[in-house]
Amino acid sequence: MKKVRVKGKQIEVIESDGIKKFEINDLPKDFTEWQVESRKELFNRIEKGEFIAMFGVHLPVLVTLDQKGTFPFNTGNRGAGLVPKAEHLESYLHSLRESLTRTKEKPWKESLRDRLSTIKEIYSSPENFDKRMLGGLEIFEGKAYKNMLESPLVSLHYTGPGPTYRSYQVNCITEILPVEDSRYQFLHLTRRLFEHESFHIPQPEFPFGYIFWVCEVHDKTPQSKIKKPST
Ligand SMILES: Cc1cc2nc3c(=O)[nH]c(=O)nc-3n(C[C@H](O)[C@H](O)[C@H](O)COP(=O)(O)O)c2cc1C
Repeated sequence: MKKVRVKGKQIEVIESDGIKKFEINDLPKDFTEWQVESRKELFNRIEKGEFIAMFGVHLPVLVTLDQKGTFPFNTGNRGAGLVPKAEHLESYLHSLRESLTRTKEKPWKESLRDRLSTIKEIYSSPENFDKRMLGGLEIFEGKAYKNMLESPLVSLHYTGPGPTYRSYQVNCITEILPVEDSRYQFLHLTRRLFEHESFHIPQPEFPFGYIFWVCEVHDKTPQSKIKKPST
């Protein structure tokens, strides 16, 4: 992975022939509220035992650059969500670990209430999260990973359910997260909290994670082209 360095409101990508600078920007309020509110609804559905066929709000398409390919891009879905502000990380890690320890003592289904109460507390407000970033976990180390080693410029394309079909293109610079990083641990523990639910394909390990530093956000939500009659 090319080395990246955050300096205030800028992120620098260090290349052999020089440094490229990108402006970091906040995720818009409507995006963070959508992420938090959709998860609250999801937790209620899990609580009721509903089957979750697809939660697109957390599963954008990740577009990476394939600089040597005939087609210079690669796509694939990727779990990518909000990351807590630095000042909350340690207390969230503590409550996630405590919840997972208690879970071990009970059958998985019986621990659902405990696990949900832990995650609901974390998602109680969009203010708990750092608006400059999104985070995800690597599983397969496939083409997307190899492309990100060559270029950290990526796009995450989110689409929500109808009838609104909220849709956002988020252009980001990727930073790789080693397992010791507390942001990796947050992403890993929140995944483990729901690892054995029916909507997940169980995964033995996540070799590392990513921070996607937000540079540009484009709202791609479709609107009706039918003209309203003038009154
Ligand atoms: C719904 C869904 C969610 C996925 N989530 C992840 C994920 O969080 N992390 C990951 O590494 N791969 C995830 N994948 C797998 C990748 O999309 C893809 O199959 C894998 O990275 C291999 O493709 P690549 O060689 O283009 O990288 C997911 C796939 C689907 C369909």
